[in-house]
Amino acid sequence: MIACRQSTLTLIKGLTHTELCQQAHPDFSPVGWHLGHIAFTESLWLLEQLKGDPCPYPHYRRVFAADGLPKSERQNLPSLAELLAFMQTIRDRTLAYLNTAPLEDTHRLWRWLLQHESQHAETATLLLEVHRWPRKVTCSPTLATDLALDAHPLPPEMVYIPAGEVILGNEHDDALDNERPQHLRYTDAFFIDRTPVTVHAFRTFMEAGGYQNQEFWTPQGWQWRQAYGITQPRYWRDAPGWEAHPVCGVSLYEAQAYARFVNKRLPTEAEWEKAARGLATRDRPNPKISPLYPWGSPEIDHRYSNFGSAIGHTTPVSHHPLGASNTGCLDLLGNVWEWTATTFQDYPGFQAYPYRGYSQAYFDHAHWVLRGGSWATRRWALRSTFRNWYHPHVREVFAGFRCVLDASQA
Ligand code: AVJ
Ligand code: FE
Repeated sequence: MIACRQSTLTLIKGLTHTELCQQAHPDFSPVGWHLGHIAFTESLWLLEQLKGDPCPYPHYRRVFAADGLPKSERQNLPSLAELLAFMQTIRDRTLAYLNTAPLEDTHRLWRWLLQHESQHAETATLLLEVHRWPRKVTCSPTLATDLALDAHPLPPEMVYIPAGEVILGNEHDDALDNERPQHLRYTDAFFIDRTPVTVHAFRTFMEAGGYQNQEFWTPQGWQWRQAYGITQPRYWRDAPGWEAHPVCGVSLYEAQAYARFVNKRLPTEAEWEKAARGLATRDRPNPKISPLYPWGSPEIDHRYSNFGSAIGHTTPVSHHPLGASNTGCLDLLGNVWEWTATTFQDYPGFQAYPYRGYSQAYFDHAHWVLRGGSWATRRWALRSTFRNWYHPHVREVFAGFRCVLDASQA
């Protein structure tokens, strides 16, 4: 929790008043609201619900509770100094409580809260990206050399995933309600892109008039494209050196249009998870014992994946060969979220935790699942089973995609 908070404080260093209080986009609350909401939620679940102490700042409930003010009325915020004091006051009390709290029974709630801060901090990161776009990116010297080495676009390549059952979900303490219960699902054989779709590949779509040609788009996608005059991804960088990076900042509609353009489709979330968790092998014959990270070890660090804002932007899709799953797929966790073809739904036997509004309120067939995490996702929200969800038109998230093909069609 201390490490997570440290990253949150680093993120908001030098924030301007506009960046703190103004909505960067109507779909999102201001950064300052996210800060207050992080502290309020910590106070609500750990101090009030668990310990039994009411929030020391009762007037903040209306401002910072998820069911308080509508998004458009969240701009009247306390100053940054007041927000920081609020965060610190709550944190001092939670850490004091941690000394005596009955952890055996409540571990899950603490783990949930850590992921709650992680997710809101990622949202704050993307809001700052929108405020500051196009932000000048400075690569560290070693990174600059590495980037030069793998700046060449990879040949398009897919890997084969045989038909059979895959284990979905996980039931460890840190698994969120929507990842439970763990269960088996069957998939037919398919081919999946070894990496997320690159800037280089997406450029061929753009240069072929992909944004102008209705035939590639779903009816809803085309309507959206026309209404907003969309002609490129949200975080499109038209400069040399980015070709091998994943395309970043696309809506589901743009992902679907590209997939149609190359005669492929988006993966279902079961297909994505199968590629990420890897196949049963002689060393790992039981598909139920499947690691939470594609690379098979129980650890995550920066040799495997671009995550936690350690680099501050995307990396080439082949930048982390050690992060491959045993299917050969690369870059499954970190770098960019990946849109799937699946709407966000409950797994059979789902039980809401810690409240109905966390996941269940979004099982509405209007949100689609994204998998894999981005360069800004913190380690606590990064694993092969983690499910994110957004409306199909959202493109401010650090999201890209990879495509699949039915084996029967290939
Ligand atoms: C899963 C990232 C879409 O930020 O709205 C945070 C996570 N839920 N507080 C969101 C969440 C409640 C959620 N996302
Ligand atoms: Fe929240």
